[in-house]
Amino acid sequence: MKNKLFPAILLCTFLFTSCTGEKSMNKVIDESLAFSARQYTLMAEALNNKPDLLPRTIDESGTLVTSNSGWWTSGFFPGSLWYLYEYSKDDKFKDAAIQMTSRIENEKNNTGTHDLGFMLYCSFGNGFRLTGDQNYKDVMLTGARSLSTRFRPNIGCIQSWGSRKGWQCPVIIDNMMNLEFLMWAFKQTGDSSFYKIAVTHSDTTIKNHFRPDFSTWHVVSYDTIRGKVEAKQTAQGAADGSAWSRGQSWGLYGYTVMYRETGLQRYLDQAEHIADYLINHPNLPEDKIPYWDYNAPGIPDAKKDASASAIMASALIELSGYAGKEKGIQYLNVAEKQLRSLSSPAYLAKEGENGNFILKHSVGSLPAKSEVDVPLTYADYYYIEALLRYKKLLK
Ligand code: GLY
Repeated sequence: MKNKLFPAILLCTFLFTSCTGEKSMNKVIDESLAFSARQYTLMAEALNNKPDLLPRTIDESGTLVTSNSGWWTSGFFPGSLWYLYEYSKDDKFKDAAIQMTSRIENEKNNTGTHDLGFMLYCSFGNGFRLTGDQNYKDVMLTGARSLSTRFRPNIGCIQSWGSRKGWQCPVIIDNMMNLEFLMWAFKQTGDSSFYKIAVTHSDTTIKNHFRPDFSTWHVVSYDTIRGKVEAKQTAQGAADGSAWSRGQSWGLYGYTVMYRETGLQRYLDQAEHIADYLINHPNLPEDKIPYWDYNAPGIPDAKKDASASAIMASALIELSGYAGKEKGIQYLNVAEKQLRSLSSPAYLAKEGENGNFILKHSVGSLPAKSEVDVPLTYADYYYIEALLRYKKLLK
């Protein structure tokens, strides 16, 4: 990832940190990655004797909660291990990554979920990128075809969930995160159907998911016969019309990726609009870690969501390299603040604590009272990714 602005930003940061005594980003990143490697070594050891299981979160007593491969987060721990292998070049992470990645191979045939991008691209995708293993490629192509079966041509979207709660064809903003997987499949095979699905889904989502201020609805449901929008609601947000924080981050990340993969200006515009909405939001706290919903009741006492921040930081770092100078600097400054906050004792776990997860204080689904103020594997995954992305800029 090239970032033309970086020498100027680096100089400003250096001058600022010299004056304030704040740690350099180099040090923040190196210490945080080294800590992540130690913490996930413990996690991998804890998972050794639990065949077929993957880490998910912790319970009230601090005990590790695992999932099987079918849960949407199964790919994040293997993916984090691949990132830590990339960072450390230590074969112990490669061995652990291979072992954990193999636990989810069966999901390649799963046509009952839209989450195959998270599950297979974060795990097998990083594994293939780093090893070139042809078996991984085969698994992923099978998975990409399984995901494609969920595309509904009359709607122009990949269906997220099965029909429920009166929704015939629910599509959630999170689904933007599956498109990188399809774009990868397009580039590998030359099969334009993958490209068409990804672009059509992105365009339909711009049309129907976003409000005039560029916040996004969580769920848009479509009528399966006419292909028309039948409902705009939420499942995990504070209210139908609110801005559920992780959903906003998924949208930002998704359009940044779609710009990278297609070069289409409309996706860069969309990503910048979302970023501008988020970084200027009056309810974005000083430490730049969003509350679980930008419209959460009880702000400033509402729960924070470290996962929304980690995803947003990773996306902003990438987007800063595509945006113009002024915006690029703003985006990178916010991402830097987020990484500093996440790397502080307020969010970073102590070694051997927090169920061996890296970050504290994420929210899965507050309305469902599920996974509230806990560690979550995807917060860790995007945090490591953001650290690595920032580190690349420092080289
Ligand atoms: N894709 C589910 C979530 O972000 O919670």
